Formats: sequence, structure tokens, C-alpha cells
Amino acid sequence: MENMREYRMNFWRHKTNEANRGYFPTSLEIVKMEMDLIDFGEINDGSILNICDLTGGIGEQLNFMHEYIIGKNLVPNSYYNEVTKERYGIAQSKYGSIENFNLLNSDFFNLKARNSNNKKVFTIIRNNPPYGDFDYKGINVRMEDIFFIKNAEMQVDYGIQIFELPIHQLIEDKNLIRRIFYRYENVHIYSFPKPYFDKKQICVIGAKKKINTNDIELAEIWREKLINNSILSLDEVGTPIIKLNPKAITNTQPIVLYRDGKVTDQTLSRGFDAVFDSLVRETTLTNNDNSDLGLKTPLIEQLPGHIALDIYSGQYDGLVGDVLIKGGVKKGTKIIREQEKDVITTTEVEVVYPFVEITSSNGQTLIKEYSFSNDENETA
Ligand SMILES: C[S@@+](CC[C@H](N)C(=O)[O-])C[C@H]1O[C@@H](n2cnc3c(N)ncnc32)[C@H](O)[C@@H]1O
Repeated sequence: MENMREYRMNFWRHKTNEANRGYFPTSLEIVKMEMDLIDFGEINDGSILNICDLTGGIGEQLNFMHEYIIGKNLVPNSYYNEVTKERYGIAQSKYGSIENFNLLNSDFFNLKARNSNNKKVFTIIRNNPPYGDFDYKGINVRMEDIFFIKNAEMQVDYGIQIFELPIHQLIEDKNLIRRIFYRYENVHIYSFPKPYFDKKQICVIGAKKKINTNDIELAEIWREKLINNSILSLDEVGTPIIKLNPKAITNTQPIVLYRDGKVTDQTLSRGFDAVFDSLVRETTLTNNDNSDLGLKTPLIEQLPGHIALDIYSGQYDGLVGDVLIKGGVKKGTKIIREQEKDVITTTEVEVVYPFVEITSSNGQTLIKEYSFSNDENETA
């Protein structure tokens, strides 16, 4: 996957298992029904489509779409992403060798997609985000909402998004349905057929507007339909209902960069394995600020934990040499037990566990954690 890069993987979301909270993979029968909603009739054979599922699970839905598009005599360039290493690993082993099937193991919020002109790159987006609340830059937001908005930003004009979410999110949250109609036209909403309706999921499909415009009334009409349960189920549709506009194909350009703008292939070219060690070595050997690490203060010998704290406080400013460095800290509680004769005293102290995350040019991420080795008990 030459041109596709990750910015960094968000350790926290992974570590706290937030990703797992919304793991409801969609049956391939549903994916087929969704794809059957699209009319490819005006698209010339051999046209290239960039398709993606950036919360890709184990990748089977995107792989299905990939094959479906080939079956229409079109050429898919597929972009899969998944934050959990486990699911990514499965997808990698199943689909890693498929031509034009690009895989990435990254946090959705830290990846960037661009072509030579702009960041609108995907012709067809599959968006089945995790469901639930989520802390985004310190604000509590719904995942469905924020994943929708970010996906829409990456959509080419006239491209199609297939968005799956629980029905109550569109009923209870007036803003989300308005956001959808603000950005998308020719919007249709269907419920999952009965046997698949266990998570009360619906499918929203629409074409990206070239210019976003408010469509509050239409959004309200659809919200009423949802409240009154008067929407069709996917298996009741039977014919394509949304034409893929040939302009979407014209707007689809090859993806040339898949990482935050600061980071390029030139800046990220070395393998990551050796980097952490050399970082530690340089840091411990250097005692002036001539180091190419750009440190401004003299150094004493530092352990990985100290370095993580430096990094976290911004000392390394993201890029060190050819790799992207990120540090962070996690708060935990250390429980110290002391025994004097028969009396056991337990003391809880708050401790900070730093970690360092290093991302190489080929998208691999190394995470080094520093914890206190003499911990007896601790809770994160
Ligand atoms: C509802 S499942 C969707 C799986 C599959 N795409 C499908 O349509 O059935 C959501 C997936 O998003 C992943 N995920 C959660 N948070 C993520 C994040 N911040 N970045 C990337 N993937 C994430 C979860 O691990 C999970 O595999």
C-alpha cells in the first residue's frame, strides 16, 4: 500500500477497548442489498472507483463490495482501515494479497486522505461506525455523528455514502439527521430486514452534494417517517434507487497521500524497529542541545518513561528523524500493601504510566510502555 499511510494509532481508544463497544459487523446479505440500491448504468466499463470502509472490522464487507464492483466491469481501489490490531490482522491475512485492496491499522481520527487537489477522495464510502458515546477532543459526542461527518469530508462530490446506525440515533438526535441532509441529496433510509434488525439498524444512502445546503424540512419529513415506522426494509426495495453520477467518477483521483500533511514519504522512510533504541541511546548520551533531537535542556540519563513524558510535553514535536513519535500518559492507581504483625495497611497512590508510540513509514506502530516493575496491584 504505497501511497497510504497512517498518522498514528490512538493507543487510548484501543487500550480502553472503546473500539470493541460498537462491534456489530453487518451480514454480507445486507451489504449486497445495499449495493443493489446503486445504479451503475451511467458509468463506463473500466472506470476507477475509490471505495472505503475506514471502520472496517475484519474487512469482509469491503471485500464483498470490491468483488461486487469488479462484477460490474468497474475497477475498485479499496481502502480498508481498522483500529484494533486483532481485526486488522485477520483482514490482512484474508485480503492482504488482493490487488488494489489497501489495508491500514490506524485510528480513523488520525488518518488523512488526499489526492493532488484536495481531500475528497472516495467514490463510495461504507460507514458502519461503532455505536455509542465517545470523548472527542474533550467533548462528549456520539460516535455515529462524528464518524459520519469525517467520512463525508472525504467523499467526492456526487459520491455515495452507505451509512449504518441504530434507528434511535436519527430520531432522538435532530442534528444528526439534519447534518445528513445538509451534505447529501437523493437520501433514502431503509431498515435492516427483520432477522437482522436486532441492533435496530437502519441504512442511510445518499449522494454527496457539491455545495452543502440546509434541507431541514426534508430531514424532518424523514424523521417523522422513522418515528412512525413507515420506512421500507432493505429487502422490500428490489430495484436500484440511486444513480452513481458519472461526475463522481471524474472527481475520483488517485490517492497520493494518506497521512497528515506534515508527514511525507521523505520524512518517513526508515524502519521503526531500531528507532526507539537509537532514540534512547541518543538521549542518554547527549548532554547538550546540539542533538538532532532538538532538545533545549541538558540531559541526564533518561529511561523510556522519562522520554515519554518529555515527548508528551511536546519536546520532540511529532517528528524525530524519519519517524513519527507520540507520547502519552495514563493514570493509574498503585496499591501498596504493608504488613506489620497481623495488621495489613493498604495505601493507594496515584501513578502515571507513560508510553511512547512510534510510527514508521510503512505504517507499523510500535508502542513502548513504561510501568513500575514492583507493582503488586494496580488498576487503570
Ligand atoms: C460496527 S463495526 C463495523 C465492522 C464492519 N465495517 C461492518 O460494516 O460490519 C465498527 C468497527 O470500527 C472499529 N473502530 C472503532 N473505533 C475505531 C476508530 N477510532 N478507528 C478505526 N476503527 C475503529 C471497531 O473496532 C469495529 O471493528
